[in-house]
Amino acid sequence: MHEFNDVYKYTKELTVLYVEDDKYEREEGLIVFETLFNKIDVAVDGEDGLNRYMEHKEESGNYYDLVIADINMPKKNGMEMIRDITQINHLQFIIVVSAYDDSLNLIEMLEHGVSGFLLKPMELKKLLKIFYKVGESIANKKLQEKFMIQQSQLAQLGEMLNMIAHQWRQPLNAISASAINLSLKNSMNMLEDNDIEEISQLIQDKTQLLSETINDFMEFNKPEDNKEILLSEIFNKVYMMIIPQLISRDISIDVEIDGEIKIFHNSKYLEHTLLNLIVNARDVFEDSDIENKLIKIYITQDEKSVVLNVEDNGGGIPKDIIEKIFNPYFTTKEQGKGTGIGLYMSKKMIESVNNSKLEVEVKDSNTIFKLKFNKSFS
Ligand SMILES: Nc1ncnc2c1ncn2[C@@H]1O[C@H](COP(=O)(O)OP(=O)(O)OP(=O)(O)O)[C@@H](O)[C@H]1O
Ligand SMILES: [Mg+2]
Repeated sequence: MHEFNDVYKYTKELTVLYVEDDKYEREEGLIVFETLFNKIDVAVDGEDGLNRYMEHKEESGNYYDLVIADINMPKKNGMEMIRDITQINHLQFIIVVSAYDDSLNLIEMLEHGVSGFLLKPMELKKLLKIFYKVGESIANKKLQEKFMIQQSQLAQLGEMLNMIAHQWRQPLNAISASAINLSLKNSMNMLEDNDIEEISQLIQDKTQLLSETINDFMEFNKPEDNKEILLSEIFNKVYMMIIPQLISRDISIDVEIDGEIKIFHNSKYLEHTLLNLIVNARDVFEDSDIENKLIKIYITQDEKSVVLNVEDNGGGIPKDIIEKIFNPYFTTKEQGKGTGIGLYMSKKMIESVNNSKLEVEVKDSNTIFKLKFNKSFS
């Protein structure tokens, strides 16, 4: 037997959609659901439910934690709605509440990931049992996601340290060489007045450079709000960071971004995603013998959207792999070289704002990642 408090611990933060056509049943259900959940939205039939489901994603950037649905409903019945919802988000948690045991297609419900079902009239004991079970699963999924975000932040941090190391090498070498030069000249009594002045100036210039790099990277990790931003500005920040690595690996980068184009998004999400995409392209070239390694960054547009394309000629992605690249932990890299969450997190970040999309296409031996932004925003 589950006590209300045990269940509440899992349900109190959930945002839930409740789809029920019968007014009386709905009001009954709401009495319980309103005490159990943080927020509960209501829809009156399958069609309304699906619309509400998508509106919520548009407004908040997230899907509902849980959908509670009746099956026999006008317009679109519950099963059709569930089919549509799981098509959009196959990880959706769903609980079915129905009066007719025999009209339920259990197999199909299981196939569509329905996590539990309740018979009407709802019995409190059974209801608590099911919400306990589903609430626990949702909490586990959220924990897993949090862990993944941490992992991806760690991976980014590693990548950044790599870049700092790269950018520091030259000035550090220069400082060290100057110090050796100074002490050599001194030991041979060849030190002239202006040597000291020159070397001191060089050390000052180089340390300035070192500290600027640190500042750039500190900036890069500050969180930001969603707003209207210039795409070219975002790209320039990423470019400054990655360009030394590309040059040293003989990878050319071709950039064509109209300086005027503005989109509505989150500058940090964009910077991290662009960095992920360019780092992925860089890594593809690592083991290849392609001669003219090229990354192209350019914009395409139509009436409704602006698309930022990140294209590389690194050989494309095989069919059986391309379906999995946005999955968490999918990587083809050797152990220790990739965690496989770069693209998963990038897609999540991009798609959480203003209905944007991150997609991939392969043309011949080129891979093109497409960041699609809506021109309109509310
Ligand atoms: N430009 C690309 N060309 C070919 N394959 C790619 C490209 N970008 C990604 N992939 C494939 O997608 C997989 C997943 O990429 P993802 O960025 O998610 O993880 P990763 O790069 O392997 O590891 P990390 O977590 O360090 O980013 C890669 O291992 C690679 O097989
Ligand atoms: Mg990656």
